[in-house]
Amino acid sequence: MTATDEVKLKTDIVEVVSNYGVKLEKMGRNYRASCPFHAEKHGSFFVFPEQQRWHCFGACATGGDVIAFVMKKEGMDFGQALRLLADRTGVKLTTTNRNEDAARDRLFEINSAAADFFHHQLTTTAAGAKPRSYLGQRGLNEAAISSFQLGYSPDAWDALKSWLVPRGHSEADIIAAGLAVQREGGGSYDRFRNRLMFPIRDAQGRITGFGGRALDDSMPKYLNSPQSAVFDKSSTLYGIDLARTAIKSENRAVIVEGYMDVIMAHQHGFANVVASMGTSLTEKQAHILKKLASRFALALDPDTAGKEASLRGIQVIDNALARGDRPGEQGLPSGGARPSVEMSIVVLPAGKDPDEVIREDPFAWKTLVETALPAMDYILGVAASRVDLRTPQGRKAMVDQTLPAIAGIIEPVKRSVYVQKLAQAVGLREQDLWDLTRKRNRPKASVPETHFTREKEVEEFCLAFLLQNPDLKEQCRDLSVEYFLDTELQQIAGCWLRHVDTASLKEALDPLLHETLSSLLSKRLPETNRSQRVPVLQDCIQTLREYYLRGAEKKKESLFEQAAFSGTDAEIRSVEEQGFTTSQQLGGLFHEPKGKQRLRPQKGA
Ligand code: UTP
Ligand code: MN
Repeated sequence: MTATDEVKLKTDIVEVVSNYGVKLEKMGRNYRASCPFHAEKHGSFFVFPEQQRWHCFGACATGGDVIAFVMKKEGMDFGQALRLLADRTGVKLTTTNRNEDAARDRLFEINSAAADFFHHQLTTTAAGAKPRSYLGQRGLNEAAISSFQLGYSPDAWDALKSWLVPRGHSEADIIAAGLAVQREGGGSYDRFRNRLMFPIRDAQGRITGFGGRALDDSMPKYLNSPQSAVFDKSSTLYGIDLARTAIKSENRAVIVEGYMDVIMAHQHGFANVVASMGTSLTEKQAHILKKLASRFALALDPDTAGKEASLRGIQVIDNALARGDRPGEQGLPSGGARPSVEMSIVVLPAGKDPDEVIREDPFAWKTLVETALPAMDYILGVAASRVDLRTPQGRKAMVDQTLPAIAGIIEPVKRSVYVQKLAQAVGLREQDLWDLTRKRNRPKASVPETHFTREKEVEEFCLAFLLQNPDLKEQCRDLSVEYFLDTELQQIAGCWLRHVDTASLKEALDPLLHETLSSLLSKRLPETNRSQRVPVLQDCIQTLREYYLRGAEKKKESLFEQAAFSGTDAEIRSVEEQGFTTSQQLGGLFHEPKGKQRLRPQKGA
């Protein structure tokens, strides 16, 4: 039995869900409640004690096991949620890799001790006077210094080491934590000397590393901890521990570049700010953020490098969201209550970073964030500034650079707004641009006037097409319900395959799915004649299959990534053993995965 199984066996989903303040109402063998993940009047959230699973049939249209619940509720990743539950149930997650885990724990302890030491140096010693006054000049108050636990590393080769070693930390561990640097001839010296110290924490508040700012012109300006068993810069967001709650409750994350930007923002009550630490946003960072919010604002320095970083950041967030569990889009038939993804660029005054803006006028910052430029407008603006729109080549380049992004917008109204804007910018007829977007997106020539942007649209199209052309059922041998990654559609598709007509389908379907069903039945589809229908359907099935295979692969990949990052072999194995096929992740409620063991061992078995 894997540690994951053990955790699940020892937790009761009903208890866990109730403990989060969800008022569960008993309904037969199951429980029902208002969904804790979206605002609603009717209870579309269910807990199934026998399967130890939950499901929201409303706007979330998703479900899962107890771990998935905690992940969603806490905005945690797999490893974090599993740890949390393991802690509560007293399950030790360190079965085979006890050594590695113990080593990581030691590094966290050393980092924590070092942060205490640095903070003490800053706040109470004579040597700390200079950095203290530096912070004062920069406008940081004591509350900020203490909540970010800022510190000072003395100007000596072994101040930290000679404080840590007598307290039971080995030199080897101090080096492994990146706090000391190994000397060639043996021995070691403190890495951070005469620097202002910024402890860097993970989402759970554990210190993974440090940034050290020079107090003079020494280079580099910021020296950061090297990669270690606990520090990976590309998956770190400075300030995430303090920003997590605000990001979730405001449903917006503001991403800045630097340490000082974050601290200044928090000091002035803007608690939803995190820093990408100087690099442009990475996929891993986007991955962490997308679990917490669906609105993102990038506030990067307005220089050329910042422009590039903004464009890349938009791309990276977009990619991360396209990976399966995007929060959802407005205007889909499932009820409309889903949050739409919003990405914007905070346009900073030339030469100023958020730290300076906020310090000068906190209200100006608030306004800048509220009036941030939608990402697509930003992309159009940058593209326009790079080409000469007076020449045909320039206009063509502008179309080439922006049309793919516009065509990728799922929400139809929004998409047409930008087609219009681009048409205006380049002086083309809108219709010509629409023709171009279609050419780009048409999966195959045999499919008549439909253009698919992303998975869900194909799924909807395919299901609506089937529901409206029941004679096609015989042609569905190659269609697996698992290809519908959207649980609601998957439920309906599965039910449709088992029932002869619409009336009995409706009868068999959970009433909560009726709204979606009727919107599919009335969805406007392109005209097709009898001879076109079969090839269109086959094309659809083929496309869905491709998406499914790719999606399953990616899902697995990202879980591996998480497991690999959180470190233990046991977790990686458990991901592997569970397979985490897409169906188990997204639709496993009524669907028994073929040829795989059940996720949760039967009690007593
Ligand atoms: P900046 O150079 O913009 O510094 O780098 P800053 O944050 O505004 O700091 P102050 O205001 O000059 O004190 C932005 C971020 O890039 C990373 C750090 O995370 C920094 O906060 N950086 C920068 C480094 O890691 N190393 C460097 O040498 C410079
Ligand atoms: Mn700055």
